[in-house]
Amino acid sequence: MQRILIALTALLTLLAGCTDEVHEAAQKVAEKTMPTQEAAPPAPVKPEPGTKLVATAQARGYDPAQVSRGGQLYQAHCAECHGDQAQGAVNWHQRGPDGKFPPPPLNGSGHAWHHPEPILKRTIRAGTGQIGGNMPAFDGKLRDEDIDAIIAWFVSLWPDRAYNAWKKGRH
Ligand code: HEC
Repeated sequence: MQRILIALTALLTLLAGCTDEVHEAAQKVAEKTMPTQEAAPPAPVKPEPGTKLVATAQARGYDPAQVSRGGQLYQAHCAECHGDQAQGAVNWHQRGPDGKFPPPPLNGSGHAWHHPEPILKRTIRAGTGQIGGNMPAFDGKLRDEDIDAIIAWFVSLWPDRAYNAWKKGRH
């Protein structure tokens, strides 16, 4: 009987060792194939004033320095809501649970180009709180030329069709 017990204990120890090994091996494979939780999230992509943007801005009569400054101001004040590529919220054209619209794209894929420049400026200055929206006012936070630079930046992202349609109603 004692012999059997010893044999059994030995077997169990062996088995335990075995499963431990299997476990360790599996963990090693997992470590290799899966990113660990501590891994830093990928750095957000900050759009640099690329050559295409600069070329478009110049073709539309904007100063590349102004556009580049506008891009930086946009990242600092607007990107948290409108997205770092001005892509807007996913369901921007559907009212959210609070009955208000999420931030729309400003990259030309939304309907910002329907609004003449003075209307865009007014929206940015006054925000949309007074008309029941969620956008904060930037009056007092941004100077007039800052707002002009931000508009110059996002308008330079627009495809020709949106830009040309907007330009017609610009003045
Ligand atoms: C706290 C979030 C938030 C921030 C920050 C914000 N916006 Fe908005 N914005 C909105 C929302 C939400 C709307 C949709 C209008 C509404 O409130 O119903 C909007 C609408 C707009 C519109 C009108 C677009 C259209 O298609 O009618 C423009 C232009 C705009 N924002 C520009 C800006 C600019 C430029 C900045 C930075 C200076 C900025 N926004 C910062 C939330 C924000």
